[in-house]
Amino acid sequence: MQAIVLVGGEGTRLRPLTATIPKPALTLVDRPFLAYMIEWLAIHGVTEVVLACGFLPDVLRETLGEGEHGGVRLSYVTEPERRGTAGAIRFAADALGDRLEDRFLALNGDVLTDLDLTALLAAHERWDSRATLALYGVEDSAAFGLVRCDGDGAVLEFTEKTGEPAPGEVNAGAYVLARSVLDLIPAGKEVSIEREVFPLLVETDLHGLRLDGYWMDIGTPERYLQATWDILEGRVRTQVRPTAPGLLVGAGAEIASAASIGPRAVVSAGCSVGAGAEVRNSVLLEGCSVGADVRLTNSVLSAGVTVEDGATLSGAVIGQDEIVRAQS
Ligand code: GDD
Ligand code: MG
Repeated sequence: MQAIVLVGGEGTRLRPLTATIPKPALTLVDRPFLAYMIEWLAIHGVTEVVLACGFLPDVLRETLGEGEHGGVRLSYVTEPERRGTAGAIRFAADALGDRLEDRFLALNGDVLTDLDLTALLAAHERWDSRATLALYGVEDSAAFGLVRCDGDGAVLEFTEKTGEPAPGEVNAGAYVLARSVLDLIPAGKEVSIEREVFPLLVETDLHGLRLDGYWMDIGTPERYLQATWDILEGRVRTQVRPTAPGLLVGAGAEIASAASIGPRAVVSAGCSVGAGAEVRNSVLLEGCSVGADVRLTNSVLSAGVTVEDGATLSGAVIGQDEIVRAQS
């Protein structure tokens, strides 16, 4: 099974974490965000992933590597200019050429999820559909694609971003597509699958299957932290092995015996935490140095940050290699 993963967005709401690193390459707990997606796809039989890149494609390539990741064949394509969600799928599909299979998966690359794609593929076959969407139930559908189906899973209406804060079933950003869907996407143009393609398939050729499980967009610092604890406390199925529930201390991290870490914390490889420091509900990415008597709560430190002795940070998001001084 082949999968096209859309990773062309800029992740602006996660700045400064994503100032130099595209969101899919950002470390979440102990691996790049996109590694979770690839591992999830592999569980459901995907053997080849094409990453449709836009922003900072080289960083993505350096982070995830060329050729293969966890038994999945990986390749990268970069659109010459912004193509939109459907245009990017078309561009990646064209790059696969004759090797593209008759049906394939297409996914938004910005959610952490363990939804049952095997069930989605089975439903697609059963319905003999052209496009089958994974749906997820939410309390506030305003910022998503709201989907209304009949009792047999046929999509009657697809409305992208209603702006109405009503509960409903939304597009989870995981699709099974028949190759013929590509005929509806003109090449070389910016095209939105949500606004321009799905509406053409509604009623006859578009189905939706509601799936339960974990599903979260990690687009803001609050959600990035929540996803961290969800992984470390086992609310989402991943391959991460916590040090203790809610806690991960990476290899080679040096924590002074008089420091207090947790209950929820990530102290990545190569970090040091000084005596008397307190790290609570916070994430330290690789190689951070936290001085003596520092108080850190609900904060995220990008790789290589230095926090000087005695500083206090609460709800802070610090960019790569910055130095935080104590207020005098
Ligand atoms: N390669 C490429 N090129 N990727 C793109 C482009 C593009 O031009 N535009 C967007 N993407 C990628 C983004 O990086 C992201 O992974 C995915 O496509 C979806 O784009 P977002 O900008 O994150 O859309 P959204 O979150 O507002 O809405 C989408 O996702 C929701 C679920 O999270 C829609 O698909 C909604 O219908 C859906 O409910
Ligand atoms: Mg999104």
